[in-house]
Amino acid sequence: MIRPAPHPAPLPAVASGFAADVRAGLTHAPQKELPSKYLYDEVGSALFEVITVLPEYGVTRAEERLLARHAADIVGELSSDVTVAELGSGSGRKTRRILEALCRRQPTSYCPIEISRAALQLCRRELGDIERISIVGYERDYLAGLAEVSRQRADGERLLVLFLGSTIGNFARLAATRFLRDIRAMLKSGDTLLLGTDLVKPVETLLDAYDDPIGATAAFNLNLLARINRELDADFDLDAFEHVARFNPDARSVEMHLRAKRRVEAHVRAAALSVSLEAGETIWTESSHKYHADEIPAIAADAGFECRRQWVEKEWGFAESLLAVK
Ligand code: TRP
Repeated sequence: MIRPAPHPAPLPAVASGFAADVRAGLTHAPQKELPSKYLYDEVGSALFEVITVLPEYGVTRAEERLLARHAADIVGELSSDVTVAELGSGSGRKTRRILEALCRRQPTSYCPIEISRAALQLCRRELGDIERISIVGYERDYLAGLAEVSRQRADGERLLVLFLGSTIGNFARLAATRFLRDIRAMLKSGDTLLLGTDLVKPVETLLDAYDDPIGATAAFNLNLLARINRELDADFDLDAFEHVARFNPDARSVEMHLRAKRRVEAHVRAAALSVSLEAGETIWTESSHKYHADEIPAIAADAGFECRRQWVEKEWGFAESLLAVK
């Protein structure tokens, strides 16, 4: 008698990209890792807003000062009829100055591209009152969102892409150039990219910025495990982990990790994963690379841009570079 082949055991339902990414990251050897984009759920986005106002985290204020001081100058470099696409808008607070300067000149479309719905809402609330602005949010990954904005534009409409907050620093160096090249591939002659980069500064200043005394950054980092518990039916004991920030002098980056204080076992049911960490073992969640202002033109050239102007904030150490498509 021929029996029908037995059904294969049902595969564990891997619920989403999140589950698959958590599974890949936590089985990565020798260094376990989690993609930093998952830091920004609603709780994470709110905690990051707290980080931006910490006295120890000078990045956001330095950039706000730069943009407040030079918005008119920056806008003066742009052709008329420009649409603004921002990669990772966050709350939108620092973008206000540029948008106000642009909207004074002409009605302007602003397209924030964000994977965090909470951040998109925050940004709409923050910037919706600017006169003559129209805001169209894209709940997408950066490149998918930018491709769509670029595709939908009218002939003769130029794009100004904003990539602020030193988010470029969260890529490894080669990946950063590659990412700029990917952006470049979606742009046309006459388009520009305004790129914010945090600059190299003393190690103690950097470590304080990424490991603050009230523990806001620690909470932000730990929330990633809490989010996995919430969304993927996992059982990480948060008390068993601590936030660590260390400087990597070779990469010139601050690395953020979650370190197991003792041996830890956890189950991530929605990813069909059991994971164990030795005492002292870490999960790498993010790196923040620091640049010298004069490195930027070479990196830009490598990616097919020309660095047209640069504005440097010296108090904290932050640069804004206007890159034009070559
Ligand atoms: N883009 C920010 C930065 O690198 C993100 C950030 C700030 C961050 N503090 C953090 C990421 C702590 C993880 C942990 O400056």
